[in-house]
Amino acid sequence: MTFQGKKVVVTGAAGFIGSNLTDSLLELGAEVVGIDNLFNGRTENLDEARKNKNFQFHKGDVRDLSFLLDMFEETDFVYHEAAFASVPQSVKMPENCHDVNVNGIMNVLNAARRMDVKKVIFASSSSVYGEIPDLKKNEEMRRVPISPYGAAKLACEAYMYVFYHVYGLKTTSLRYFNVYGPRQRDDSPYTGVIAIWFNRARNNQNLIVFGDGEQSRDFTYVKDVIQANLLAGEKDVPGEIINIGAGNPISLNDLGRLILKLTDREHLKLEYTDPRPGDIKHSFADLTKAQEMLNFQPKYTQEEGLREYFKWYIEKNNIDLEIH
Ligand SMILES: NC(=O)c1ccc[n+]([C@@H]2O[C@H](COP(=O)([O-])OP(=O)(O)OC[C@H]3O[C@@H](n4cnc5c(N)ncnc54)[C@H](O)[C@@H]3O)[C@@H](O)[C@H]2O)c1
Repeated sequence: MTFQGKKVVVTGAAGFIGSNLTDSLLELGAEVVGIDNLFNGRTENLDEARKNKNFQFHKGDVRDLSFLLDMFEETDFVYHEAAFASVPQSVKMPENCHDVNVNGIMNVLNAARRMDVKKVIFASSSSVYGEIPDLKKNEEMRRVPISPYGAAKLACEAYMYVFYHVYGLKTTSLRYFNVYGPRQRDDSPYTGVIAIWFNRARNNQNLIVFGDGEQSRDFTYVKDVIQANLLAGEKDVPGEIINIGAGNPISLNDLGRLILKLTDREHLKLEYTDPRPGDIKHSFADLTKAQEMLNFQPKYTQEEGLREYFKWYIEKNNIDLEIH
């Protein structure tokens, strides 16, 4: 009932996570206003949403305060997903990353405060932890980002908290750990490794690994991330920062082998190349806080998530491939 008839603004709505979130909010009866500057998003991601009379799309930039003031009129929830969302690209263009992410959130928070938005929920990232040695990350740990993207997300979290503490705006930051699933871009070197490797496997190309492949990640299926966002909208958890992951790390070597097995391409190889600057070695979410505060429990194992994602991809692109 939380979202029925409520106005929800999703920034970055044409992106991978924003468009999945938009669809779920519409299913729950919300009136959704999606905004995106289409820097990385695709309008086709909103084809489903556009069929719903409770959906509107506005092309615009989160760095434009007057646009946001206009969009946030009489808004209950803002989900801030828009971002300069790539670690390697942020290493190449730190000032652009800062501009979109940090100046962007300042506008989102200012506009939300001025327009009396009830709640702002923000897509943060596990990259804020950076190079701390502990495998399992909990929210109390030190944060030592090692990329401009991680640094920007940390600054965003700080502003989220400050706007709650100083102005009473109800803000919650969710730290996502490597998300994958339908609508993830597969056509750019800056996209997630699962989309790139699936594409290579189906095209009978070896999988390229940066480093020795022993780095691990907590790959999280997008539907679990959406579940967490909806719970964060329902529960009263202002000022909090909460990890959202699968809670189940996998090394890139094991992930590669799993993708080759599922696509029946076990004759292909993992090909090793230099590590990438800004990449962290291990990362996996302690979900205790998410369980306690949000009652969040991931529903997908990595194999289940990969199967569902690959099947969606095959059907959408009309590809002749069977998932094993
Ligand atoms: N995908 C992941 O693994 C992951 C992990 C941690 C955090 N996140 C965060 O989740 C959010 C969504 O990520 P995603 O994977 O869907 O990325 P995405 O690039 O698919 O979506 C981001 C969207 O924001 C839009 N955008 C970029 N700059 C904008 C601007 N100035 N004004 C308006 N719109 C703008 C893009 O066009 C894009 O549609 C981002 O904040 C990202 O940092 C993602």
